[in-house]
Amino acid sequence: MERREFIRLSSLASGFAAFGGMAWLLQSCKKMDMDMMGSYVNVIEGKFEWDLVIPPVVNANSASLTAQSATSQLINEKTSRVLGYHVGLLGPTLKANSGENANIQFQNQLSEETNIHWHGFVIPANMDGHPADIVGAGGSFNYNFSIQQRAGTYWYHPHPHGKTASQVFKGLAGFFIVSDAEETALNLPSGEFEIPLVFQDKRFYPDFSLNYSPKPSEVMTGYLGQYILVNGRYAPTHKVASRWYRLRMLNGSTARVYNISFSNGNNFYVIGSDGGLLTAPENVNSLLLAPGERADILVNFSSLSVGTEVYLQSNSFNGGIQGSQSFKMLKFIVDRQETDSFSLPGSLSVINTISESSATKTRNFEIKGEEMAAGHGGNMNMQGMHTINNKLFDINRIDETVQAGNTEIWVFDNSMGDEIHPMHIHGVQFQILDRTGGRGVKIASEKGWKDTVLCMPGEKVRIIMTFPNYPGKFVFHCHNLEHEEDGMMLNFQIN
Ligand code: C2O
Ligand code: CU
Ligand code: CU
Repeated sequence: MERREFIRLSSLASGFAAFGGMAWLLQSCKKMDMDMMGSYVNVIEGKFEWDLVIPPVVNANSASLTAQSATSQLINEKTSRVLGYHVGLLGPTLKANSGENANIQFQNQLSEETNIHWHGFVIPANMDGHPADIVGAGGSFNYNFSIQQRAGTYWYHPHPHGKTASQVFKGLAGFFIVSDAEETALNLPSGEFEIPLVFQDKRFYPDFSLNYSPKPSEVMTGYLGQYILVNGRYAPTHKVASRWYRLRMLNGSTARVYNISFSNGNNFYVIGSDGGLLTAPENVNSLLLAPGERADILVNFSSLSVGTEVYLQSNSFNGGIQGSQSFKMLKFIVDRQETDSFSLPGSLSVINTISESSATKTRNFEIKGEEMAAGHGGNMNMQGMHTINNKLFDINRIDETVQAGNTEIWVFDNSMGDEIHPMHIHGVQFQILDRTGGRGVKIASEKGWKDTVLCMPGEKVRIIMTFPNYPGKFVFHCHNLEHEEDGMMLNFQIN
């Protein structure tokens, strides 16, 4: 949140108290919201003239990542100062096989503290990048853990409380792809036919430097950018052959939800989500992808003739101002005829359903973002309006204590809320039992292992998980990073 904005509003508000105080403030907040919507929420489509960049691949069992500042061309030939884990926006794609060790030498060359969180990994608490485990400016840390989980599309990003959102926004994020024998045996499209895609919306100052400065009203809606970057490039194009492709998609935005689809209306197959492969491909023609979530899809371009252009886009959806617009994000051009022998497998993997009867406890979490004036009475404190069970994040307080090996049901209750909350739990993969209210169903990507689940306004989502034998302190939070920074995060302790 922009501190100055808050102070300005506070002093104005006290000055105008005699003229009806809060009502006046509410009016001006509404006006500010309108200004914001007019100028920033609408996505500006580009010309799709620049090539898609595929991040370099680095073996996770001997990697070095250095958080650093550099310049990069994000929009056309314009140069922006960005952060990255290598020179430029984002970081390399780390790769490893299940059963191997990750050994990552991390250097912090920023002028502020940071750390790395391995989103989706089931690993010891001291390796998870808890907000309390910080690497100071100029410091370093060796992340070393064994990868004991299924093949899947995971990712990494910083987690220093109060700086997570701005550091992610400025470019600190990368893919971490895990493979295993089961997945390899499926012979899914690979090499140049397997493409990681991270979607991020950005705002820029007129000089094309990145602008991360959420106003109070934007902490509510989420900080939405007008320019959609795919792999760190605005409006890119990618040449494809007329055959099957595997797209590993990550929503690395701070707040924006995408409704993934293709401009020709073609269907595609969801084969995996946050925690790896589904049991069978799910045939869809659109898919909601919330911040933090991943979707692994197969798309068949074989019926398209050479020269065909097809866009990956986000369709409008039922989600307030977030869903109000359809926009194109990436252009595919079929530039060659090619026949492949791939055929869609009927089944992909085995997922053992965790039975509800094995749960020893159910915990309810009311997830809430107050309207601007509601949460702070007369004292005009704009911060800390996003809560879980009415609590704000306290780095030292343990909010929930669970037992390693125990199975629990957690309920994220947004039934009274009017904001979008993608809820994420560290250190564990869960299954979604059901969703009531709102959409009322599980979507295609929710039929496998998950670490982040979208709770739309009016929805109550029940999940089930078994805690691993990694004692220590982990966090769970809203992956709308403006909400997270505003306090929508709690600690849980595994004993
Ligand atoms: Cu990707 Cu705690 O987050
Ligand atoms: Cu995480
Ligand atoms: Cu939220």
